[in-house]
Amino acid sequence: MSPVKPTILVTGGAGYIGSHTVLALSRAGYHVVILDNLVYGHQDLVEKVLQVELIIGDTADRALLDHLFQTRDIAAVMHFSAYAYVGESVSDPAKYYRNNVMGTLTLLEAMVAASVKKFVFSSTCATYGVPEIIPIPENHPQNPINPYGATKLMVERILADFDVAYDFKSVRFRYFNAAGADPNGLLGEDHNPETHLIPLVLQTALGKRKSISIFGTDYPTPDGTCIRDYIHVSDLADAHILGLEYLLKGGDSEVFNLGNGQGFSVREVIAAAQHVTGIDIPVQECDRRPGDPPALIGSGEKARKILGWLPQYPDIKDIVVHAWQWHQQRHQ
Ligand code: UFG
Repeated sequence: MSPVKPTILVTGGAGYIGSHTVLALSRAGYHVVILDNLVYGHQDLVEKVLQVELIIGDTADRALLDHLFQTRDIAAVMHFSAYAYVGESVSDPAKYYRNNVMGTLTLLEAMVAASVKKFVFSSTCATYGVPEIIPIPENHPQNPINPYGATKLMVERILADFDVAYDFKSVRFRYFNAAGADPNGLLGEDHNPETHLIPLVLQTALGKRKSISIFGTDYPTPDGTCIRDYIHVSDLADAHILGLEYLLKGGDSEVFNLGNGQGFSVREVIAAAQHVTGIDIPVQECDRRPGDPPALIGSGEKARKILGWLPQYPDIKDIVVHAWQWHQQRHQ
């Protein structure tokens, strides 16, 4: 009989990346408890698909956290519950600093008080700002150009200080562009409002939108549109299991990029979607969206070397095929 695996608390487990990671944790034999305030998360997916305990609440609720840690034998926390709309973070920074920084700090303090000192954190390539080198390595300077990236960088710094002071061990993952959906069609991306390229392209293919806007065609890239490193959400989930197991085995605090090391332009993504769906997707060329760097590509070498992470779906077509499967059943 295999030994019973520990209990993992997943904040934001009803959200996009969190839910895929909960699925991967359950498949790997972990016992999972989700804490989610359901501002953006989907209760129906937790109940129908994930079928793990859901505590509806906020990371800023210290009394709830203390009770949670006292009543459950939590070995580690995976923290996904952050607000992540770059544009909104510029217009309403208070919302982002309150949730992403203060909420996280409350969670971290409750963890230290309960002597739970292993933490997997969702950071972002937005902490780098405009890249000086591509692909971006982990030691690239971090100069975020929006409050969202600044909140994530602040938490990274808090984590570094907690390690020194409290022997608190964390794995910080800096994601590039999370995309795609569970290959079996169980879960997928369902933001409201939706701002991300691939879901919007597929909603256009489904006839839910008249056209897909291309934000900027005059960037210094081969076809004039922005380039991003799209990383399959199930590959992100796998990386989280590896990061967790690294910490459970006594690994030291580390930071890893999660990217494929290759980028696709906006036009290439739309072309892949036309190919996958067989639908001619109407396009509208628009002005640049403020705050978009021309190209963001991450080196995932360190995660490959230290964690043994090997993305299964680096091909943009696979990412779009899985996203399309999900969108057809969720939105039709
Ligand atoms: N884009 C369009 N049209 C759209 C939507 C997006 O042309 O309708 C373009 C964007 O300008 C960008 C690319 O498609 O060049 C990807 O845009 P997304 O909004 O899908 O993703 P971002 O690169 O802006 O954002 C992602 C994450 C953020 C993270 C950021 C880091 O969603 O959480 O990467 O820069 F902060």
